[in-house]
Amino acid sequence: MAPAKNSESRVLALIKHPFVETFTWLYLIAQAVLRYVFSPVPPPPSNSNSEIPKRESRAQDKGLGGIWSRVNSTSALQVHSLMYRFHPSVHYDSAYPSQQQIKEQIVALWKRYDLERRTVFETRVTSVKKNDKGQWIINNNEEEYGLFDGVVTAVGVCGDPQMPTLPDQEKFKGQIFHSSNLDGKDAKGKKILIVGSGASAIEALEFAVKSGAAEIDVLSRSDKWIIPRNVLVQSLLAMNVLGQETSLSWIPEWFLKKFFYRDLQDIAPTDDGIFTETPMANSELFDQIREGKAHWLRGDIVSVEEKGISFNHRAQGVPKGGPGKERLIEGDIIVMATGFKRPSLNFLPDVVFEEPYGPPNWYLQVFPPKYPDICANNSTFVNAIGTVGNMHIGIYTRFLIMFLTDPLTRPTEQRMKTWIDFTRFMKRFAPTKAFDFFTYAELIYWYIFVLLINPFRWKWALFVFFGIGRALPLMVVEQESAFRKELLKQRKDN
Ligand SMILES: Cc1cc2nc3c(=O)[nH]c(=O)nc-3n(C[C@H](O)[C@H](O)[C@H](O)COP(=O)(O)OP(=O)(O)OC[C@H]3O[C@@H](n4cnc5c(N)ncnc54)[C@H](O)[C@@H]3O)c2cc1C
Ligand SMILES: NC(=O)c1ccc[n+]([C@@H]2O[C@H](COP(=O)([O-])OP(=O)(O)OC[C@H]3O[C@@H](n4cnc5c(N)ncnc54)[C@H](OP(=O)(O)O)[C@@H]3O)[C@@H](O)[C@H]2O)c1
Repeated sequence: MAPAKNSESRVLALIKHPFVETFTWLYLIAQAVLRYVFSPVPPPPSNSNSEIPKRESRAQDKGLGGIWSRVNSTSALQVHSLMYRFHPSVHYDSAYPSQQQIKEQIVALWKRYDLERRTVFETRVTSVKKNDKGQWIINNNEEEYGLFDGVVTAVGVCGDPQMPTLPDQEKFKGQIFHSSNLDGKDAKGKKILIVGSGASAIEALEFAVKSGAAEIDVLSRSDKWIIPRNVLVQSLLAMNVLGQETSLSWIPEWFLKKFFYRDLQDIAPTDDGIFTETPMANSELFDQIREGKAHWLRGDIVSVEEKGISFNHRAQGVPKGGPGKERLIEGDIIVMATGFKRPSLNFLPDVVFEEPYGPPNWYLQVFPPKYPDICANNSTFVNAIGTVGNMHIGIYTRFLIMFLTDPLTRPTEQRMKTWIDFTRFMKRFAPTKAFDFFTYAELIYWYIFVLLINPFRWKWALFVFFGIGRALPLMVVEQESAFRKELLKQRKDN
């Protein structure tokens, strides 16, 4: 019954939204092709009974799936899933999949790659050190965890909820929740105050609208860009051929204000350009504001009162803490959409934090110049659009494999530092400076300057970029090491 109903509604949708539906069909077909061509074959099931040491800091229900296991079931992607394909086999049914769908994909991958027996929960990594032979020891416990040739630190950027204490918070008679903890909360007929104006604030607003809240006020301390939840707009912005905010960035900013913000340009940022911070993506928000379902207020929290928040409402262009009109905004529930703490990388050796080459000023943002065998995948960036694509996390991981397998491709410390200095130079006029804003333009620099510049890496090109054709470089590396051995032997004999 369900599939028939599903295809019936798809046909109806095709008549109603021909472009969107055609794109969706093409996307579904493209996913099947990607999966077929690019998905690596999982390793065969191990016939060894030995338990491999396992590691992860949280219990399975909160650990598996990472941050997606610790947010609301109503959470969903804000970037198009085209830019959130963390593995070629990922399969989404919709453009902006829900928390549940994303988690399902992560769990499916985890099972397919036999990671169940390689993962331990409730084990925080506190130290990663090298032994005399250059292998990595975890938590000073070689016996329990074993030895490793390389380290991927995939700790993410969203750790525990950030819950600042608001002035006089204890006076409030209502309830206060973090934005990641809204499942099961009853907002019907209530006045909701949302503190913060990032992606989580937008999600909290959507939750409040869907729950039938009586009034919703977003208290925004600083202006941030909001872009449509539209694949074309998001792809164009993510491509950002210049890779940073430039004097030409007024063009997308002007278009957004003119055709997206329209009558609501008052809440658009005036000082910060679109390529200076991760924008939020939502297409219904402005309609909800226009319909009076929600209010977006710029200003500063003065204090919390029994019945709400005393708020200094500022006009456009007036900076944080500047003058405004103070008034009480009443509320029954305060949602703290105040972000997440950044997980620490302190378990890595101290030397990787030495300035001017501390994170994110690392080779390709992820390899500390001292150690090309550490890949801090997705855990050093500050701001980004489309952060979790296999396009870059897959490439970084395969770079690590290349460095570990083939000594001729491994960059020297000096080379890595030169690359970092070069990127700093390229981004010297960017308001956010080097490294903290990732765009797909950077991938193009890397293709050219990292891979093409070193002939020993050419054989790896297909594998590094697309995950295919590993046999060729492995064969060449084998012959190269046999040749090196022979050369050493001859030298010894002479
Ligand atoms: C509601 C929500 C929606 C989001 N939507 C988007 C989106 O649309 N697009 C986008 O690009 N990004 C989005 N993000 C950002 C999100 O951080 C990334 O998308 C992505 O989930 C990060 O994946 P990850 O595997 O790198 O890190 P995480 O999913 O954060 O996983 C990190 C893991 O490392 C573990 N860990 C941390 N420290 C240690 C330690 N010392 N020892 C052992 N284990 C440790 C943690 O327990 C966790 O399981 C969203 C975030 C939130 C909260
Ligand atoms: N569906 C999605 O795509 C989605 C959903 C949620 C989160 N995310 C991602 O998760 C990450 C975190 O997003 P987030 O929205 O949770 O956090 P965030 O981007 O860090 O935003 C936090 C907000 O809270 C404000 N704030 C913090 N402390 C405050 C205080 N004491 N008083 C008043 N305001 C305060 C901040 O203001 P200032 O800017 O002035 O500091 C900011 O507006 C981002 O990478 C985001 O893209 C994505």
